[in-house]
Amino acid sequence: MRVTVFGAGYVGLVTGAVLAALDHQVTVIEVVKEKIVLVRQGKAPIYEHGLEAMLRRVLAANRFTITEDAGAAVESADVIFIAVGTPPLESGEADLQYVRQAALAIGAGLRSGPAKVIVNKATVPIGSANLVEVWIEDGYGGKPPRDSYTVASNPEFLREGTAIYDTLYPDRIVLGADQPWALERLKTLYQPILDQSFQPPDEVPRPEGLTRVPLVETDRISAEMIKYAANAFLATKISFANEIANICERVGAEVTEVTRGIGLDRRIGGHFLQAGVGWGGSCFGKDLAALIYTSEQYGYRPQLLHSTVTVNRDQRHRVVTRLQEALKTIKGRRIAVWGLAFKPNTDDLRDAPALTVISELLRLGARIQVYDPVALATLRRDYPELDVVYAPSALDALDGAEALTLLTEWQEFAEVPLARVAERLARPVVVDGRNLWHPAAAAEAGIRYYGIGRS
Ligand code: UDX
Repeated sequence: MRVTVFGAGYVGLVTGAVLAALDHQVTVIEVVKEKIVLVRQGKAPIYEHGLEAMLRRVLAANRFTITEDAGAAVESADVIFIAVGTPPLESGEADLQYVRQAALAIGAGLRSGPAKVIVNKATVPIGSANLVEVWIEDGYGGKPPRDSYTVASNPEFLREGTAIYDTLYPDRIVLGADQPWALERLKTLYQPILDQSFQPPDEVPRPEGLTRVPLVETDRISAEMIKYAANAFLATKISFANEIANICERVGAEVTEVTRGIGLDRRIGGHFLQAGVGWGGSCFGKDLAALIYTSEQYGYRPQLLHSTVTVNRDQRHRVVTRLQEALKTIKGRRIAVWGLAFKPNTDDLRDAPALTVISELLRLGARIQVYDPVALATLRRDYPELDVVYAPSALDALDGAEALTLLTEWQEFAEVPLARVAERLARPVVVDGRNLWHPAAAAEAGIRYYGIGRS
């Protein structure tokens, strides 16, 4: 099939590369010139396992192009994905200006070529499929012929760091459409994933035993709602674990034991119960804000969702309070921060808990020495005004520091010899915001160890 993707961000680039790897003919439309130049050389503008190798293969096979020019790519397409950014406005509402621009361009290109399924792949507010139709009509300059296009919803569940894996081997594919022909076309597009009939790439092998991926066929609004409900539930699960952690600290329980104990109950499940400094990233905060906003527009105050957000905000400050408890005054003290990215295996700093913790510590007068295996460059680029020392290695960040706080659970930090950490720090105080280390092992190495939800 001929597939056109608007937006070479996380979702657009990964979706485009994967569909090209499944033998579709893909064109990605991007407005940022530097991104186009990079991708044409087979380089990914984001740090994502397996993406560059896949890009290089589909470029070499001439199945993948990236361009600024929407015209021809819209006209010839069977399926068009809108995967542009939807950043939050001040109000929490999603900003749809880039979706509108894409829809206008699609409308303008509807005059010739095959009938098109237009898919909202960006996380858009509930009801946006209708809006996209209106903008397409604006771009067309009136009502296009009835059978020339239809808008469908196909939400994306990929996680950063495992985006290729999540796209090739998803837990489910959700398709929301009002027209049966659109559902049929999207099912054909995804057939190799649904029946796992493709040859897996060497870098991202198929998980053992996976032979079929479940398909959820539904209406457009329900499909849009599935995306929001899934992210809201996952964020709530983490905030729940953090709330339990805060109670554990007070009563003298160990949260990692408690979450293991509840997670083995199949009705609960063990995933997304890791207590710590809280969730971040580009999705959870944005999607919760948008769901809360929509809900309140319809006159319903979603109390549980509000609490999910509040617990998470307070959790970031918990690390700072722990440091205050350990050091008393923070002013003038050197503190080492290990881990900047909102989670391991990405250089993404969007809504990263580390940014909140660092700003708070700087406000209290601390001097900060940071290290992250990949996200230092992102910090330097996006937050040049932040007054911190960049350390070339994890251990170098400890020199002269009176405490270390660990905020991203990179494998490198799990493997570091704890005795070396105790040796290098001026005072062996560690606040482990991800419960990565074992308290007994840290104590044995001479570290004064504080975790989250551990007494
Ligand atoms: C998330 C969803 O998982 C994905 O389905 C959706 O498409 C986009 O949003 P992502 O933001 O890439 O993906 O990261 P995820 O792995 O879900 O982690 C989100 C945050 O939660 C991270 O900051 C992580 O550190 C935190 N987290 C996760 C916890 O604090 N505890 C956990 O148990 C799990």
